[in-house]
Amino acid sequence: MSKKKELRIGLIGCGFMGRTHSNAYNRVPNFFPELEYNPVLQAVCSRSENKVRAFAEQWGYESVETDWKKMISRDDIDAIDICTPNDTHAEIAIAAAEAGKMVLTEKPLARNLSEAQQMVEAVEKAGVKNTVWYNYRRLPAVTLAKQIIDSGKLGKIFHYRANFLQDWTISAELPQGGEGLWRLDADAAGSGVTGDLLAHCIDTAIWLNGNIKDVSAMTETFIKERVHQITGKMQKVSIDDACIFHCHFKNGSLGLFESTRYARGHKALYTFEINGEHASIRWDLHDLNRLEYFDHSDESKLRGWRSIHVTDGDHPYMDKWWVPGLGIGYEHSFIHQAADFFKSLETGEPCSPTFKEAFETQQVCEAVLESAATKSWQDTGAV
Ligand SMILES: NC(=O)c1ccc[n+]([C@@H]2O[C@H](COP(=O)([O-])OP(=O)(O)OC[C@H]3O[C@@H](n4cnc5c(N)ncnc54)[C@H](O)[C@@H]3O)[C@@H](O)[C@H]2O)c1
Repeated sequence: MSKKKELRIGLIGCGFMGRTHSNAYNRVPNFFPELEYNPVLQAVCSRSENKVRAFAEQWGYESVETDWKKMISRDDIDAIDICTPNDTHAEIAIAAAEAGKMVLTEKPLARNLSEAQQMVEAVEKAGVKNTVWYNYRRLPAVTLAKQIIDSGKLGKIFHYRANFLQDWTISAELPQGGEGLWRLDADAAGSGVTGDLLAHCIDTAIWLNGNIKDVSAMTETFIKERVHQITGKMQKVSIDDACIFHCHFKNGSLGLFESTRYARGHKALYTFEINGEHASIRWDLHDLNRLEYFDHSDESKLRGWRSIHVTDGDHPYMDKWWVPGLGIGYEHSFIHQAADFFKSLETGEPCSPTFKEAFETQQVCEAVLESAATKSWQDTGAV
């Protein structure tokens, strides 16, 4: 008989993230057998009965719901995992916390700061475990970057630079809103690339380089009107298609961030580079097992950028996988986050980023949008 404790998951949303999270829960017991808790795929919820039944069968859920409120009212569920569009995060998370459930939610925490504030208050008042799936932190090369920075090898940090570039909304024929296209509808998404893509860059940046003090931003909406998939009418587009901002970090370094869905040729080019007094680091999602590192203390004739293949047993998380030299992928970041969440239940430590920590990213997003709207520098209020 298994001595494992069970954590009964209720997952809401059967799209892209519903799949990555379900895969993570299925893999954790195989690759993290030492954990005290095992996930139980107790229930999955989506509005379409046919779709949710097929999803449950495909991923191994024991039951289905078509109304998330019903799922939250069930006594046989310990944790609610929110994989639905951004306009649902606050309502579901607050209701789940009030029902005493643990809450895991996809990023961004919310559409705006006011929703995010209410979510933080709800989980803190209820005293329930919570986390936000800013999964890129859990890629081994990104975690290694954190370890190198924390060891002091970079010395004083001068610059932090990040990009997140895509090209999927260039066509004016693409509708906005509804299933699959909610990201183009500001009511559902809250914002465009700022909340969708830059939020990832900001979360990683705060984790690696500390808080952001103030920002100066510009945004652009290249296509001003699109047909709305639900109403069938041509409607104003209110999201930011592109956003560029620069900022001051609390540690005195300067930041430069760019995101767009109009960079022809780029599908998901997330890159960052950090320049310190003694060393620099850079990383590229398209080559996610590698970390590039330059150390000025190397012998001058041999000095140059090293390309570290982050696949050895002593690299973060890599002792869980295959043998040295073999890479892992995007989906593993979610497996690692799920495993870290289960570990946090054993240790009683928070699973970072908590709602409170993700609130800081939300503060920066809000300041970025406000700065672009008012053409002025904005304090983030985060420090
Ligand atoms: N961590 C990441 O890297 C990452 C990547 C993509 C998306 N996300 C985030 O994950 C969330 C979901 O994005 P996605 O790409 O999976 O979207 P998606 O459109 O692929 O899936 C959303 C799902 O939610 C369902 N849904 C919508 N409203 C619902 C409701 N009221 N009740 C039940 N189900 C409902 C839809 O039917 C769909 O199955 C968003 O907040 C997004 O920002 C995070």
